[in-house]
Amino acid sequence: MLPAAVVAAGRRAEAAGFGYSSEPLTGRLLATLSAAVRPGGRILELGTGAGVGLAWIGHGLGARRDVQVVSVEQDEGLAAAVTAAGLPYGCKVFVGDAATLLAELGRFDLIFADAPAGKWTGLDRTIAALAEGGVLLVDDMDPRRYTEAEHVAVVDGIRRTLTGHDALVTTELPVGSGLILAARR
Ligand SMILES: C[S@@+](CC[C@H](N)C(=O)[O-])C[C@H]1O[C@@H](n2cnc3c(N)ncnc32)[C@H](O)[C@@H]1O
Repeated sequence: MLPAAVVAAGRRAEAAGFGYSSEPLTGRLLATLSAAVRPGGRILELGTGAGVGLAWIGHGLGARRDVQVVSVEQDEGLAAAVTAAGLPYGCKVFVGDAATLLAELGRFDLIFADAPAGKWTGLDRTIAALAEGGVLLVDDMDPRRYTEAEHVAVVDGIRRTLTGHDALVTTELPVGSGLILAARR
């Protein structure tokens, strides 16, 4: 059974015709990782969408009040709708380009990279924003999702960067849209 907040966010996405929300398996992992964030920690989501990922983060945090959550969305309308629907405690949605904002937002203990910016481009900025011991979750990494050769090449480049990075310990999870989990040593 899905958490009520996730169901509500999914309904809002459907009503808005937004078809890029996180799949339940990705969401459950995101919730689990959120629950494990260190006391007083910080979580960053790149790409708010219709708020499904945030609902999973809120589910993972439960009654915790010690974690700061930041989500970045380029589309003003999406950001406004998610904010109006009510955010998890301690959460703020920033409107703007994730790759640009990454330089200003500080470091995070959990990053969910779910926008092209900060993943397809500017991945180095996302890695730089990862605190020591921090965890990065990247989705949509299954190359079979892509028909264009250049997109497959980009995804392969992301995979190589994460798996070959000296400071990261990385696991590929061939589930859902294709997940990569990386922790900074
Ligand atoms: C896959 S959806 C996010 C889904 C959401 N994280 C979830 O878990 O349901 C990707 C989002 O990234 C946003 N986006 C695209 N380019 C962006 C950018 N440069 N900066 C910030 N957000 C961007 C899109 O508008 C879209 O809402």
